[in-house]
Amino acid sequence: MRNPFLIGTKIYLRPLEREDAALFVPWINDAEVNRTLNRYRPMTLEAEEEFIQSLVKSEHDLALGIVARQTDRLIGATGLHRIDFRNHHAAFGIVIGDKNEWNKGYGTEATGLLVGYAFGTLNLNRVWLHVYENNPRAIHVYEKVGFKREGVLRQDRYQEGRYWDAITMGILREEWKP
Ligand SMILES: CC(C)(COP(=O)(O)OP(=O)(O)OC[C@H]1O[C@@H](n2cnc3c(N)ncnc32)[C@H](O)[C@@H]1OP(=O)(O)O)[C@@H](O)C(=O)NCCC(=O)NCCS
Repeated sequence: MRNPFLIGTKIYLRPLEREDAALFVPWINDAEVNRTLNRYRPMTLEAEEEFIQSLVKSEHDLALGIVARQTDRLIGATGLHRIDFRNHHAAFGIVIGDKNEWNKGYGTEATGLLVGYAFGTLNLNRVWLHVYENNPRAIHVYEKVGFKREGVLRQDRYQEGRYWDAITMGILREEWKP
């Protein structure tokens, strides 16, 4: 393991480095990956490097790389964003950019690790997210970890020639089962 920050059984989370940007660029530009993300513009190496640097510097973001323990290879990233230390909440995000690594339990474990850190260390009370209705895999992962559906933003996203709803999901500290 290289520079682990939060350690799970199949994956660990580590700080992101500027050099990681080169791996993320093709992932973010992959239509199968970005179709469920709030992105549509092409990503460049320079913009991705700046994005990583801005996350590292921000007190309101905590972004970590997801590394598969078996191969010690970076496969994606997860983060808490818009961290609000007055109201004790943050938005959760995750992307496993390497599609070959989907459906191996990595996303579920990464989500659980970061949510546990949000409640146990950052003293947050609520973690929330928006997920598009065309992302049943992510919805299943979030429900497995304990997120509840809270509401629907109707026709929030235009993609593939039609509008899709965004579902607001959230988990409270009192609901969290480590
Ligand atoms: C969403 C994402 C993070 C999930 O990570 P992952 O490592 O593939 O997820 P896991 O392997 O931990 O779990 C996937 C679960 O979804 C289930 N699943 C897979 N496809 C599914 C589908 N079409 N409908 C419902 N469930 C599905 C799997 O069976 C598994 O559940 P199980 O463990 O109960 O059998 C990952 O696929 C990803 O990064 N996608 C692209 C970016 C993205 O959508 N990010 C989230 C934005 S809100």
